[in-house]
Amino acid sequence: DGYELWLRYRPLGGAAQAQLQAGARSLVLATPATPTVDAAVAELRRGVAGLAGRAPALSPRAVPGALVLATRAQAPAGLDVPWDELGDEGYALRRQTLQGADVTVIAANTDRGLLYGAFAWLRAAQTGADMRRLDQRAAPKVGLRLLNHWDNLDRHVERGYAGASLWDWWKLPDILDPRYVDYARANASLGINGTVLNNVNAKADSLTAPYLAKAAALAGVFRPYGIKVYLSARFSAPVELGGLKTADPLDPAVRAWWRAKADEIYRAIPDFGGFLVKANSEGQPGPQDYGRNHADGANMLAEALQPHGGVVLWRAFVYSPDATDRAAQAYAEFQPLDGRFAPNVIVQVKNGAIDFQPREPFHPLFGAMPKTPLALELQITKEYLGFSTHLVYLGSLFEEVLKADTGHGGTVARVVDGRLNQHPLTAIAGVANIGTDRNWSGSQFDQANWYAFGRLAWDPDASAAQVARDWVAQTFTRRAAARDAIVELMLASREAVVDYMTPLGLHHLMDTGHHYGPGPWVNNLERADWNPTYFHKAGRDGIGFDRTATGSNAVAQYAPAIARQWADPRTTPPELLLWFHHLPWGHAMPSGRTLWAELIWRYGRGVATVDDMGRRWAALKADIDPQRHAEVTTYLAVQAREARWWRDACIAYFQSVSGLPLPAGVAPPA
Ligand code: GCU
Repeated sequence: DGYELWLRYRPLGGAAQAQLQAGARSLVLATPATPTVDAAVAELRRGVAGLAGRAPALSPRAVPGALVLATRAQAPAGLDVPWDELGDEGYALRRQTLQGADVTVIAANTDRGLLYGAFAWLRAAQTGADMRRLDQRAAPKVGLRLLNHWDNLDRHVERGYAGASLWDWWKLPDILDPRYVDYARANASLGINGTVLNNVNAKADSLTAPYLAKAAALAGVFRPYGIKVYLSARFSAPVELGGLKTADPLDPAVRAWWRAKADEIYRAIPDFGGFLVKANSEGQPGPQDYGRNHADGANMLAEALQPHGGVVLWRAFVYSPDATDRAAQAYAEFQPLDGRFAPNVIVQVKNGAIDFQPREPFHPLFGAMPKTPLALELQITKEYLGFSTHLVYLGSLFEEVLKADTGHGGTVARVVDGRLNQHPLTAIAGVANIGTDRNWSGSQFDQANWYAFGRLAWDPDASAAQVARDWVAQTFTRRAAARDAIVELMLASREAVVDYMTPLGLHHLMDTGHHYGPGPWVNNLERADWNPTYFHKAGRDGIGFDRTATGSNAVAQYAPAIARQWADPRTTPPELLLWFHHLPWGHAMPSGRTLWAELIWRYGRGVATVDDMGRRWAALKADIDPQRHAEVTTYLAVQAREARWWRDACIAYFQSVSGLPLPAGVAPPA
């Protein structure tokens, strides 16, 4: 039913099972016992019991077929491990001869590294690696790999499509749902090492003593799994909780209040990660309320956390009603502050400048603030991509962003992992898609998006296709033909949703509020910059948002080489065309079609791809257990219907504006 996620550990069967059994007869601990080592041992025993049919017993010394868990300080002589490459969280897996015995070594500098190594070893076994010749090493390239829960204290999840919040605030701190442990296991298996428990639209209550005790209880469950707890902080808390008259970040009493609050938090949660802050955005309070800037606000919180080693993740998602182009505002507010942030502040930037659309160009801040660590914020929950109903594999979207060349000397990945500008503090965040649904994510395939986020956060250079292969092998099947068919379906899915919702660089056509279905006609919202008509600007003359010098000139926020390319419709990739240009319906596309015909063709292609995904899935019936096969089939049928809804609504609306007949030769599928 999906509860076990990718940690299913079903019997491997055949030669693979015999091989695994022979290579995991016993466990040898060459490391001090800690709760984290216990967690690694428990996972290995559980995994081997499931995969190979028998849990390994603990053994005092290296016997043939042993799994040896070793940290540097207690490593037995004869281990060949590149310790210095592994850092604090990396691991090495190696089949080797040790004291005359053929063993597998899981080695790390720390117990957290061992835990990650244990999960990596289990993943190798689950995905069909040759366990007799194992030789892997890995260390994360990004320091803080965080889930952001947009969970409210009443358990409603903002933009959540998988049930209620996992955090049962009412029963905490005393009653600990065993599911918290499974949540921690799943995250640790991916290398996720932090979680922000509450919504960025934060209530001050989460910083009161009773809620801190509840957060501390969760932190206690997560700690053995290497996961730190963070909280979203409401900027006006000194007023709301402290009774102060102001939350001005330069006011000494306000600063003292935050210092005392930080001290209190660290008494409850000694390894507390820090604050995530949404300020002066969508009505949230912030330093601008007092004539101060983002750096003033962030640095005040940073000062309070600094003695304890905490960080501030200050979000750059800001826009205001009077902006001529919402896409340009974050850069305008933040770029001039480069170099003004305290060393323990990270500015957290969404992947694109609007808001988690099916496709956006990368955010112009990446590469443009060399003196400031920038975190990449991705959205795992599919607010604008069909919620948990539509099958869309986000690994492709994440990979596209990470591999984008910023024009500032490196890709987004190199900005985020700190290598471009030598930042030791690095972070990547994913807005979680997790809730109380039995399958955690609302649909089977949405689990893959949580998985892909974690794997790409650990290694931003990983391939989305390889990550999908691993996920399918761990979740559905290791049989190559079926596995590859599912991977192909997943890899086609992201372009499909772009095609049937927002092709050619269109964006924010979703109906208001819920953001689920089409609403390109909506133009009566209280704020102009919430209206889909504001984004597509379709009229008799053409369609698209002119972000060149003749329009908002937001394109100039990119590095010169990129800006030049995207300022000219002839050199702008068709995928981003209407993001940057307002063009006549008759504009000639590289395909030879007119823009109008191309738009219709792409809507049709999206529907055709979804139909094809349905056919591919149907052919896999014999390979997947009946319950999950049937469930996915039903979801795909809904998606096929709703892709048509999107296509028909958008084409009908744009036709009503363009006044053009449907072009011949591009008839969309029925
Ligand atoms: C989007 C989303 C909001 C969310 C906001 C944010 O606008 O619709 O629900 O609060 O992003 O990221 O802060």
